Amino acid sequence: MCKGLLSLDGATNTNMVVEKSVMTTIDDIRAFAMTCFSSARGSHDWDHTQRVYNLCMHIGQVERADIEVLEIAAYLHDVGRSHEDASEGGICHAQKGAEIARELLVAYPLSDEQRANIIHGIRSHRFRGNHQPETLEAKVLFDADKLDAIGAVGIGRAFLFAGEVGAKLYNPGIQLEDTQPYTEEDTGYREYKLKLSKIKDRMLTEEGRRLAEERHAFMEMFFERFTQEHEGHK
Ligand SMILES: [Fe+2]
Ligand SMILES: [Fe+2]
Repeated sequence: MCKGLLSLDGATNTNMVVEKSVMTTIDDIRAFAMTCFSSARGSHDWDHTQRVYNLCMHIGQVERADIEVLEIAAYLHDVGRSHEDASEGGICHAQKGAEIARELLVAYPLSDEQRANIIHGIRSHRFRGNHQPETLEAKVLFDADKLDAIGAVGIGRAFLFAGEVGAKLYNPGIQLEDTQPYTEEDTGYREYKLKLSKIKDRMLTEEGRRLAEERHAFMEMFFERFTQEHEGHK
């Protein structure tokens, strides 16, 4: 769980304990966010947040978004993840993260509009149900988060995750639709075919779309080669 966050009325709540004035710089936010990943698995760890931050800075500049909003939203977008893991999916990490951000940013020097924009971006970064990214910054964060699941990094993460759940390297003799996630059959190839190959069509910004097309093409090439090597043709 996250450490160092203060309850704003001075009372200690279950996961948070701190003082109002603490979070007033981007370094405070970053340091706080890092503590939320101390027990995270490799496929969803702090490095993911750092990569999403880097992508947000790139896409945000091209799309002329509010960089200050994006910096904070990127660092905080997954701080609710440990709550979702601990509840085995019962708590939505996007909703929890938005609640944490709302409390954390009360004393941070931002306009009301910026603060609301950050909270909206965190809440909508999963794009489930009716929580759809509506502002430019929320769209950039969404694209950055999804981009980190595809391309060379996406392939690496898919195999890392497969290893975490004890899956095989590859399982060509099985109908993918009949397999289950979080099992031995949950291979990197399954993840690519059923999920990652569809991400490029979900991008919300022009630059996000451009990067996604490139990353998608690389994945196609990789898995084509992977299959050929597996069959001994190359
Ligand atoms: Fe997330
Ligand atoms: Fe994320």
